[in-house]
Amino acid sequence: MRPSQNYNMDKNTAVIILAAGKGERMKSAIPKVLHPVCSRPMLGYVLDLVKGFRVSKTVAVLGHKHEEVKNILPPGIKIVLQKGLRGTGDAVRQAEKALKGFRGTVLVLYGDTPLLKSETIRQLLTHHRQSKPAATVLTVTTDEPSGYGRIIRDKYSSISGIVEDKDADDYEKSINEINTGIICFDKEALFGALRKIRPNNAKKEYYLTDVITLLYKEGRIIEYISIKDVHEVLGINSRKDLALANGIMQKRINDRLMQQGVSIVDPDSAFIGFGTKVGVDSTIYPFTVIERDVKIGRFCSVGPFAHLREGTRLEDNTVVGNFIEIVRSRIGKRTLVKHFSYIGDTLIGKDANIGAGTVTANFNGLKKNITVIKDRAFIGSDTVLVAPVEVGRGAKTGAGSVVTSRHNVADNTVVAGVPARRLKTDGCA
Ligand code: UD1
Ligand code: MG
Repeated sequence: MRPSQNYNMDKNTAVIILAAGKGERMKSAIPKVLHPVCSRPMLGYVLDLVKGFRVSKTVAVLGHKHEEVKNILPPGIKIVLQKGLRGTGDAVRQAEKALKGFRGTVLVLYGDTPLLKSETIRQLLTHHRQSKPAATVLTVTTDEPSGYGRIIRDKYSSISGIVEDKDADDYEKSINEINTGIICFDKEALFGALRKIRPNNAKKEYYLTDVITLLYKEGRIIEYISIKDVHEVLGINSRKDLALANGIMQKRINDRLMQQGVSIVDPDSAFIGFGTKVGVDSTIYPFTVIERDVKIGRFCSVGPFAHLREGTRLEDNTVVGNFIEIVRSRIGKRTLVKHFSYIGDTLIGKDANIGAGTVTANFNGLKKNITVIKDRAFIGSDTVLVAPVEVGRGAKTGAGSVVTSRHNVADNTVVAGVPARRLKTDGCA
């Protein structure tokens, strides 16, 4: 399909993202959709998915702790608030006003389904547009349907309803085909039916899924498409689901990096955050944790047991060895930080050597301060650099030095001791 065709089709589509829920089953003070999957809030993945489609309008339904959730929404998304959290049907209803004047397809996505792929959405939209039913449901068959809404079919195998897990009888519970929660609707059919649903069920909520049952009873056509991989539509409701989603997303991230020419010695113990950039021919050793916003150049070596946090930049050919934590810092080309160090809020030039046990004391109890280590500097083992401080080009610190704040070390000089003082004869410290 040509992109221009997609564009025209997408223009007749609006998306509603449901993200108001509290996520009771997570047992958390953090709203469920903000829980991270591979260092990124799960809602972020759903937002990305929508970005790939040039739809007419996107409406996010927020509720529980909406001020926090709002912070991660990109501009251009209409926010509506759901008060009272009375179920997914009630949540969708809140978006009606925001879609005034819009006609066409409404795609409902849940903020707790971060593994969904854009090809699947494309297939669902295409099917819906071709068949023009009242709704098209994305379903999947699974050996573990517990917790999900079950798909009910009539004697012609057409979808005639969805029964929620809590309301299902034994027969219905034995059905393996589930509602993924991702459904395309004809807008008029959706909002017409939403007015008629009632909260007469186990959870005393307005279920969006009741719209399907109601539309069927009204003689409207319900279409569906099914996907094979149940993991793609995993709805995260509990900490266990969250761990499962993390593992699946991690595999996707690591597979992609390896395809791009990065060696990952043990993909099962490389925890690499979403969006991490790693250059070709770099190697990630086992038990390495890389969080968000990290860029690693070419021919770098990271780990084993390294922890790279946000704002870490490793230029080409750097080595970050075992038991190193780095945050908000840049490490210049060919610089070595090989053994147990903490580097925070630090700019390190090229060809520097950071000795074993080096610590940048970046926090003075009130604020974080910056350390600068210039090209070719040689930091002796167990040096503490109390920020703000600078170590000049080619300068050296003796083993065990404590370089106190603002006592900058001049280019090509040697300091040693506690507090560190300049040695008379420059040379080896
Ligand atoms: C829902 C479906 C179920 C499906 C499953 C797929 C309903 C009634 N059930 O169940 O059929 O198998 O998803 O994962 O739709 N939300 C709101 N406002 C509310 C309630 C929920 O915005 O009042 C949002 C949540 O933030 C979440 C999404 O809707 O992002 C789904 O809610 P959740 O409580 O997780 O529904 P499930 O029980 O998983
Ligand atoms: Mg859910």
